[in-house]
Amino acid sequence: MTICFATNNSHKLEEVRAVLGEALHLKTLSEIGCLQELPETQDTVEGNAKQKAHYVWDHFNVPCFADDTGLEVDALHCAPGVHSARFAGPQRSSEDNIALLLDKLKDIPERQRLAQFRTVIALILPQGEWLFEGVVKGTILGHRRGKGGFGYDPVFQPQGSHKTLAEMTMMEKNEVSHRAIAVKKLAEFLQTS
Ligand code: IMP
Repeated sequence: MTICFATNNSHKLEEVRAVLGEALHLKTLSEIGCLQELPETQDTVEGNAKQKAHYVWDHFNVPCFADDTGLEVDALHCAPGVHSARFAGPQRSSEDNIALLLDKLKDIPERQRLAQFRTVIALILPQGEWLFEGVVKGTILGHRRGKGGFGYDPVFQPQGSHKTLAEMTMMEKNEVSHRAIAVKKLAEFLQTS
């Protein structure tokens, strides 16, 4: 089956391809002729995932899925959540986002810096629409560690791990990550339906 993964993020594409292996032939947005920025103006991660997938379906009429992720920090009442990409401003800089996050948490002891990444994938096929969720719980560290991954990975340490997501290989990240959990659910659905 050929399906488009509606993302412009090359890290996500690589992670998702590694989880799916040969099971699915993934097309990129540029391969289907979609060169524009996808809209993501909703106020929930579910809403944004659906909005991106619907945009591709409506304009290009190909089976597709899109993901959206929020980092939900307990001490910040689940912020930045759906605003994770633009937490520190419209420039969408991961460096700035992490700096702001660390600043907001600077007086909070490490054991109280609980957080989770939550990914929702919206899948659109000719016969309907489905959502798949993946969550990984962990802690926000006081400083960055590791050079891999992207986004908030250098400050997020999953529960039960001594490494941040940025210190893990892609395979290690894919064993625990929010996105990999959601993608595995998607793959199982596609294999059994
Ligand atoms: P998006 O809207 O799903 O692309 O992601 C929202 C924000 O969360 C962006 O700032 C991303 O860098 C960040 N993000 C998404 N997925 C991950 C991840 O796997 N690790 C770290 N940060 C992520």
